Amino acid sequence: MRVLTLGATGFLSGAVVREAAARGHEVVGLSRTPGDLPPGVTPLHADRDDVDALRAAVTGLGAPPDAVVDTCGYTVAGARAAAAVLADVPAYAYVSSVSAYRDWPPGPVRSEADPTFGPDADVQEYGPMKAESERVLTAALGDRVLLARAGLIVGPGDRTRRLTSWVHRFATQARVAVPAVDVPVAFVDVRDLAGWLLDMVERPIAGAGGAVTATGPAGMTTFHGMLDACRAAVEATGGRPGETVPVPDAALLAAGVEPWRDLPFWLPEETARTAWDVATDRARELGLPTRPVEESVLDAWRWVLATGLEHPDLDPRLDPAALAG
Ligand SMILES: NC(=O)c1ccc[n+]([C@@H]2O[C@H](COP(=O)([O-])OP(=O)(O)OC[C@H]3O[C@@H](n4cnc5c(N)ncnc54)[C@H](OP(=O)(O)O)[C@@H]3O)[C@@H](O)[C@H]2O)c1
Repeated sequence: MRVLTLGATGFLSGAVVREAAARGHEVVGLSRTPGDLPPGVTPLHADRDDVDALRAAVTGLGAPPDAVVDTCGYTVAGARAAAAVLADVPAYAYVSSVSAYRDWPPGPVRSEADPTFGPDADVQEYGPMKAESERVLTAALGDRVLLARAGLIVGPGDRTRRLTSWVHRFATQARVAVPAVDVPVAFVDVRDLAGWLLDMVERPIAGAGGAVTATGPAGMTTFHGMLDACRAAVEATGGRPGETVPVPDAALLAAGVEPWRDLPFWLPEETARTAWDVATDRARELGLPTRPVEESVLDAWRWVLATGLEHPDLDPRLDPAALAG
């Protein structure tokens, strides 16, 4: 089938394009600027936030797409443009976010029926923008749109360094400060999400559309399980991982370590217990797979080593010796 991807050369979009091409689809990948695409994929350049530019690009294709996978919805204008130009496609997968839920964080998220941000919220903000974009696309496409509310996406190609900064610490430090409290955490591997988005648009989407919280099952691993996977990735690539030094939340906070920003995935225990408590029953029913976290971490680290993606030096506040003092 003819698959149009909005976004083509980035993290999730790149994984969607590669998988769609590997499945033998006729793929058109839209981005504003040229980038690496697999052989056989047709590049298309336009700003999808600009309705006229998007219309001209899509019209220029001749035949309309059978399916759209939209990974680069970062404005409500972009959703409106897609709604105006692509409302007739038989299947449309829009990548939204768990941030669309009004009460997350701190959560928990009990089901897709939990409230999302309303139309009065500031759509310049990420969560309200995703919620409003969902409404715009649903008004145009009805039950032909899938709203995939993605959780944390991990795996090869991730330039955020959120996960790989942990691996980098174990690869480069003899002793690594880690939060002492262990809590369940969950992610979605970029390849699992990309493949599933395609699974969803390859069949009639009606009945399986609407909102789906698209991440791994709560408790698929724990924070410390993820850290073990980081140490294992260092070993598997010929390094000697640093030793973990558990540090209580209070000591991290007293040192001015900012949750999440300074230590990705770390939230103080009280927030962590609800923020990671995100129900994904519908995603499981609809077949979103979950590969082992060890595989996601190892492949993400191999990608870092292959590409030379740099990571910053250790923040002195995270030096285990300083934290112990
Ligand atoms: N990363 C996470 O953990 C996470 C979590 C929850 C939800 N999400 C959602 O997941 C989706 C994918 O995130 P990602 O970081 O992997 O992004 P991505 O899919 O890699 O998006 C970037 C791609 O989109 C293109 N693009 C961006 N803006 C465009 C525009 N206005 N017009 C045309 N093309 C445009 C970029 O190329 P050009 O720059 O050349 O245009 C690039 O090809 C996003 O919708 C994000 O909100 C991500």
